[in-house]
Amino acid sequence: MKKQEAKKKIDRLRKEIAIHNHKYYIENNPVISDYEFDQLLKKLEALEEHFPDLITPDSPTQRVGGKPLEGFETVKHKVAMLSLDNTYTYDELREFDERVKKHVIDVSYVIEPKIDGAGVALLYKNGMFVRGATRGDGIRGDDITINLKTIRSIPLKLRDKTLQNVEVRGEVYMPLKGFKQYNKEQKKKGETAFANPRNAAAGSLRQLNPHIVATRPLDIFVYFISFSEKQFETHQQAVEALKNAGFRVNPLIKKVNNIEEAIDYCKDLEQQRESLDYEIDGAVIKVNSIKQQEELGSTTKHPRWAIAYKFAAKQATTKLTDITIQVGRTGVLTPVAILEPIEVGGVTVSRATLHNFDELKRKDIRVGDRVLVERSGDVIPQVVKSIVEKRTGSEKRKNIPKTCPICGTAIVHPEGEVAIRCPNKQCPARLKWRIKYYASRDAMDIDHLGESTIDKLIEQGLIDNIADLYALTKEDILTLDGFKEKAAQNLLDSIEKSKQQDLSRLIFGLGIRHVGKYAAQLLATRYASIDELAKTSPEELKEIDGLGEKTAESIGTFFATEENIHLITRLKDIGIKTHGAEKERTPLTGKKFLFTGSLRSLSRPEASDLVTQQGGIVSPSVNKNLDYVVVGEKPGSKYEKAQKLNLAIISEDEFLTIVKKGDVKHD
Ligand code: IVH
Repeated sequence: MKKQEAKKKIDRLRKEIAIHNHKYYIENNPVISDYEFDQLLKKLEALEEHFPDLITPDSPTQRVGGKPLEGFETVKHKVAMLSLDNTYTYDELREFDERVKKHVIDVSYVIEPKIDGAGVALLYKNGMFVRGATRGDGIRGDDITINLKTIRSIPLKLRDKTLQNVEVRGEVYMPLKGFKQYNKEQKKKGETAFANPRNAAAGSLRQLNPHIVATRPLDIFVYFISFSEKQFETHQQAVEALKNAGFRVNPLIKKVNNIEEAIDYCKDLEQQRESLDYEIDGAVIKVNSIKQQEELGSTTKHPRWAIAYKFAAKQATTKLTDITIQVGRTGVLTPVAILEPIEVGGVTVSRATLHNFDELKRKDIRVGDRVLVERSGDVIPQVVKSIVEKRTGSEKRKNIPKTCPICGTAIVHPEGEVAIRCPNKQCPARLKWRIKYYASRDAMDIDHLGESTIDKLIEQGLIDNIADLYALTKEDILTLDGFKEKAAQNLLDSIEKSKQQDLSRLIFGLGIRHVGKYAAQLLATRYASIDELAKTSPEELKEIDGLGEKTAESIGTFFATEENIHLITRLKDIGIKTHGAEKERTPLTGKKFLFTGSLRSLSRPEASDLVTQQGGIVSPSVNKNLDYVVVGEKPGSKYEKAQKLNLAIISEDEFLTIVKKGDVKHD
């Protein structure tokens, strides 16, 4: 292809991608599937690979790129980034209105949610995004362009000619759903979670590696034009222009005619607060007329034409009576504050996380302190700070423990890591999590073996590892607090029953890092027994379609550990089914299913069980190797992807016929 022709194609693709990007990220109304979108991007990538000199910074392929930075450059803002004056009562808002009216007449206001994220300034030259910066000290901030580019709702090129050379302000935030999911995954990996969505947004933007930033679910609302060649009469018009230029603007922004209407809308926003997918900590009241804004001017710190009304915080103060230490599944030690129970935003709180020992030290929180507790983003409450003024002198610091509070093993604190760990793999705390995992519904599904029973069994020294469960006698169980004859028998029966569980459940229940349900099912159909799996090298495992490299490595490590081999031998001796092969081959053996949408007659776990009981596999994601895609009501994007891949799509009824009669298609 000639360069000329390639350039045309590239331009066309970029335009098309920009349109779909806008539809997806700004309008929330995609008109093509994710798959089709990816295809467009791939085409563009291929062309750019051939003609690298046609790559421009505004190309959608350039959103995530570049090497990790050593540090951020400091840049001067085009216009100083002032902050807003805060008010906490409606009367203060009325006073603000009086002050405004001393200088200007006929005032109307625009009310906006105050997004609780990280403020940024975005600079555009000739319609191109050229620089993005943090607020910093208001005069200078950090150049975080490379990170901001990864946020798909920030246009790389503006959509119309009204705004070309502008600086705009907005708030980068992490949506609550993404925040919770991110933290859940961090904890699962034994890594530190973010304290709240604001820290998550600000922390992500300070990341030096843009590839990491790209994996964080960040978004932005843009709310102010700080510099523009084009002049606007009202803030409302400016907001409209931002929208037309392709920026994401908050849909709850509203114009009102006077301060009482403003107050009513603040109340309204406060009510809506809990139902939004992002955190707001107040409302911002802005004078609508730009001319009036200019007349009012600013102090050195904030504009006189705008003010923030802060909602009642989901905060309260109470006494911190103790700091206990929790040991997690991977051995990470986490300090936890024990509090005198207190109501915070309608919920009684008696424990709060202190995240890690670095933070404990930095915040200098001591046992006996009065502390400020906050609930944010629907997560575990956290201790914000100590009220130092209330100290009596009898408060005590909690030092980093030198040994594990559970097993007494010397703790390790790898350099550069925040987390401190108990390295003892046999630590009862870890054992507890391991047994809980092994007994869980998706693994060996042992009824009556809840967390408190596991605690008691460990405390009594009755179990040291998974295999010990099978040596428990009724007499043992009867020594536990609260166990009578019947309950003890029930537990024994459930443990006994678990010996016959499928190989895939056993593989999953062993808790091998990175081996989830799907990987376990894949392995169980591939290998006839756990011994066969144990003999397979990581190199061979890597070849399995659908199994990642990390997973393969981790399986290798697991079976190279003597204790694990010893455990497996014991499990075999006990009579636990470690073979899958003798399982009768059914027409469903090895068939891969995926579910999307909700089913009428079955829950998801029930449907999955029907598949796996007959040797089938349930995949969590769409791929070309699927045999069936079962589509229920309101299917998600997986449905579209499956259509694109020409997979066999079946209804719930067809699915039921297949699992009941084994009426499968043949390859
Ligand atoms: S207007 C000169 N509007 O709150 C006008 N700010 O405490 C400056 N913020 O630094 C800001 N939502 O980071 C404005 N709708 C909104 C906002 C907003 C959040 C942040 C912004 C600002 C801080 C002021």
